[in-house]
Amino acid sequence: MKHTIKLFMVFIIFISAIITYINPDAQAAEEDQWDKIKERGELRVGLSADYAPYEFEHNVNGKSEYAGIDIDLAKKIAKDNDVKLKIVNMQFDSLLGAIKTGKIDLIISGMTPTPEREKEVDFSNPYMTVEQKMIVKKSEADRFQNIDDFANQKIGVQKQTQQEKIAQTEIENAQIQSLTRVPEVIMSLKSGKINGMVIEGPVAEAYLKQNEDLAFADDVKFNEGTKQTAIAVPKNSPELMQRLNATIKDVEDKGLLADYKASAAEAMKKDEGNFFTKYGNFFIKGIQNTILISIVGVVLGAVFGAFIALLKLSKVRVLRWLASAYIEFLRGTPLLVQVFLVYFGTTAVLGLNISALICGMIALVINCSAYIAEIIRAGINAVDKGQTEAARSLGLSYGQTMKSVILPQAIKNILPALGNEFVTVIKESSIVSVIGVSEIMFNAQVVQGASFDPFTPLIIAAILYFILTFTLSRIMYFFEGRLKVSD
Ligand code: ARG
Repeated sequence: MKHTIKLFMVFIIFISAIITYINPDAQAAEEDQWDKIKERGELRVGLSADYAPYEFEHNVNGKSEYAGIDIDLAKKIAKDNDVKLKIVNMQFDSLLGAIKTGKIDLIISGMTPTPEREKEVDFSNPYMTVEQKMIVKKSEADRFQNIDDFANQKIGVQKQTQQEKIAQTEIENAQIQSLTRVPEVIMSLKSGKINGMVIEGPVAEAYLKQNEDLAFADDVKFNEGTKQTAIAVPKNSPELMQRLNATIKDVEDKGLLADYKASAAEAMKKDEGNFFTKYGNFFIKGIQNTILISIVGVVLGAVFGAFIALLKLSKVRVLRWLASAYIEFLRGTPLLVQVFLVYFGTTAVLGLNISALICGMIALVINCSAYIAEIIRAGINAVDKGQTEAARSLGLSYGQTMKSVILPQAIKNILPALGNEFVTVIKESSIVSVIGVSEIMFNAQVVQGASFDPFTPLIIAAILYFILTFTLSRIMYFFEGRLKVSD
């Protein structure tokens, strides 16, 4: 009991230390964001590349490239200001957090200025105007024509968007389903889970072109029908703002938007070839990264885990408590939360500018180390006490006993469990897709967007994960067999 209370206290102290650190006011911009961009020589633009014709990925000679109106605009901004451009692709609902924590300098993601958002960021002058539309399944187009037909129906929207708001306020008693990415909402609509989707005109057209089973509900007119699109900028950055507005003005004066739209339409055309020649390389890259992050997760996780296990077995109480607090915290919180904590925490708390891939690896290593620590501890404890007593009475020191008597036996318990952990990590690593690490799941989502086909990429992802985990568990069985033989 006493032990539990102390453990709990260590835990609380740990958490409050973190919370005092993450004080958003602490990093209120005293500095114009432009100075940071200039110093870095690189402009980091955040967006959610699920939004053709604004921003999407497509295939150029077997390689993935960003294209779209926002991308062209971002390129022009970088060029006008003589800095390099870095596109940071993430979920739309993570963008505001990313700009607040300094992960990105701007959001150019088809974003509409709203009063809520204006509390967090400033907006440039608008560079586009768009209509809000409703789309339905073609087979149901007769049933759903005007806005009243959608009362009490299931309506899909992208999470945290203006469309979500419109569905809430303008459709009577709508049952709203908010999903993170546009292709997911399209998939819901195609499979009949929702009856309609509120979506911006140009984006709807892009999807309708590739999905013949969908159609506009033409008679639906929203009060908030016309919306503007602008660039989100960290607060109090007049210099940066002025530079952005200069580029936007230039785009207007020269009529460049028409060119941007034309080249987006060109990039959206279905590429030649079959699904695999077009998108195979996305999956290959995904497999490589999944394997990479899983191996790093398990190997480094094992190194740290061994260390934590030693702490937990130590004779010093404080060390044991620390180890327990660490393990309990990591096992008691979702990996998803840990991934976001590392991703935003490294910038907001530690002020580091670490890539999503590295953040994903760090999160996996930390998470694995807790599980592996328990595996190792259990493996060591499973060796009969008598072994230690015998070794010690023969005059071996504690260290010698561990090294020559206990560990060699413990390894046999530990290895198979480590193998299982590896299988788990391969599957769990899909979670780091939320911060934009291009592993299998993330690239499957990219292909969903690029092919406008929401389903096939998921099937392929499932098959690839299965091949990886199945092969690995076969290899493990083989080695377990060998261990038994050597007994
Ligand atoms: N214009 C809408 C908004 O600001 C939706 C933007 C969604 N953008 C995206 N890249 N998915 O709420």
